[in-house]
Amino acid sequence: METKGFKPEIRPFNGSLADAEGLLSVERTTFHESPYSAREVQRMLTEGPQRAWLAVAASEVIGFVVAFPTFGWQNRRWEIDLLAVRPDWTGQGLATRLIRAAAAAGAGVAHWARAVTAVHNQASLRAFQRAGFRPSAEPCHLLLRRLPGPNPLSRPTPGVTVQRTFPAMRLQGTGGDAPKGPSAFLLLAEHHGRPAGYAELIPVQTILYRGIWIEAVDASSPLVRTALLRETVELATAAGLDEIGMMVPRSDHALQETLLTAGFRSLGGFYWLWATLPLPEPPA
Ligand SMILES: CC(C)(COP(=O)(O)OP(=O)(O)OC[C@H]1O[C@@H](n2cnc3c(N)ncnc32)[C@H](O)[C@@H]1OP(=O)(O)O)[C@@H](O)C(=O)NCCC(=O)NCCS
Repeated sequence: METKGFKPEIRPFNGSLADAEGLLSVERTTFHESPYSAREVQRMLTEGPQRAWLAVAASEVIGFVVAFPTFGWQNRRWEIDLLAVRPDWTGQGLATRLIRAAAAAGAGVAHWARAVTAVHNQASLRAFQRAGFRPSAEPCHLLLRRLPGPNPLSRPTPGVTVQRTFPAMRLQGTGGDAPKGPSAFLLLAEHHGRPAGYAELIPVQTILYRGIWIEAVDASSPLVRTALLRETVELATAAGLDEIGMMVPRSDHALQETLLTAGFRSLGGFYWLWATLPLPEPPA
């Protein structure tokens, strides 16, 4: 349909199959990665923690943003996970408006919103900054491990044991319509019976994949770090997940090495973008 000449509106995903199909049609012209059908996306966006907003012109979906809360051990966050505008509609401020709509809803859930953008994605960086987000000072390497596959870290690590804790349910929001989101859980390592490190993991379902985000890894030695990452790969594989990802500071060469040995590959440099919620009012 010819949508030019119509002023696009930004509105929440309405739960319909038509909206899910429209969202997926934009996804196919941008990321082109989602393995899910429109029905599956419809279910995810209505029954799970993910929420979406659409840019619509003449009843046609021309852009979308998807966000969801995560509950970490230190804070809860509103994750602006995916943002896309159909190529023939870019450069008109739609991404900025979509980010603002998602962030406004997030203000009822968390004090912080964050997103991840490739260092070379100037349009995305500009849109987030225009909406009120600030990039981290140092870019990270985004390291990704697709599953299933061999676990090259399967060698036993003598003297190291790793235990899994309960999820951080205590940080979940208590009330109202706030979507309940995935909670972090910890892997705690001991070396010869002494605390020796941890990994903070968040299981996530997005409209592109089901996986684990590694929020943080801290270990007293390379042996302990290897044990924590081996356990992460094992439990994600056993759960039938699609991938594991981590944003690793560029300066943390030791962690990058261990992840690369574990079969992760680098997708290049990415910035964290952060904002406190609610965002400041846009200039009139
Ligand atoms: C990134 C994307 C969402 C931006 O959508 P958009 O509607 O064009 O964004 P906006 O118009 O709100 O803002 C884009 C800003 O970047 C600028 N911009 C656009 N293309 C640019 C480029 N190639 N280089 C530098 N700046 C650029 C625009 O001028 C605008 O800046 P301004 O506000 O100072 O004028 C869109 O290009 C897209 O869908 N890309 C593919 C998917 C993607 O990369 N998503 C983001 C990662 S999750």
